[in-house]
Amino acid sequence: MRQFLKKITHPFLKLGLKFYYYKPRKYSYDGIKILVHPDVFPPHLTFSTKILLDFILPIDLKNKTFLELGCGSGIISLLASKKGAKVLASDINEIALEFLNKNATKNNLSVITIQSDLFDSIENLNFDYILINPPYYPKKPKNRKEQAWFCGENFEYFETLFYQLSSKVEFQNTFMILSEDCEISKIESIALKNNLYFKILKERTIFKEKNYIYSIICNK
Ligand SMILES: C[S@@+](CC[C@H](N)C(=O)[O-])C[C@H]1O[C@@H](n2cnc3c(N)ncnc32)[C@H](O)[C@@H]1O
Repeated sequence: MRQFLKKITHPFLKLGLKFYYYKPRKYSYDGIKILVHPDVFPPHLTFSTKILLDFILPIDLKNKTFLELGCGSGIISLLASKKGAKVLASDINEIALEFLNKNATKNNLSVITIQSDLFDSIENLNFDYILINPPYYPKKPKNRKEQAWFCGENFEYFETLFYQLSSKVEFQNTFMILSEDCEISKIESIALKNNLYFKILKERTIFKEKNYIYSIICNK
């Protein structure tokens, strides 16, 4: 984990990101074409978004209610919409939502967007599917952009997420991706404290980095 923290704060990578991401960049998947703003989580430079896209592609989502919590570019929400789901895409980052609305219109797809700190502003808390690609590095984010990566020094993001999931959300399938680069056992222990446990559904190794998609199960 420390190695990765070093990786994303490494001057060369920071410089690379700055050069590549000084303007909105194109990204596409399954015929959906979007523009991603520099202040939004980049699906191009990380594997997690692509792994989740490949994961939901074969799932029958027709008429299912689908929440992407922390949607970033929203490419996953757009794919879910293309597959017939009724999609709510939430994020704390307003630029992400502004761009997602434009990208939805351009692709002739329908998603409802909402600015919300986790579940705080989401009223109807009943979903068939919830998908989460969380920020997981334990550091205090300095701004909206950094909230895509950092979950707070003491994993505050996960403390609130699992508390809310366990206490007020009705869900059938909640999927979360984590990488071996993060402190999975710490995150799992916060879930357990809230009567939630993880079941591995898929493991994918890219460039020697193992990524896991978990189903979050409620043990009440
Ligand atoms: C790792 S990115 C994933 C983005 C997108 N789901 C994807 O897979 O490409 C995490 C996202 O969660 C959002 N986020 C971070 N903290 C949040 C919070 N407290 N409430 C809602 N969204 C949050 C970030 O702004 C970012 O867009």
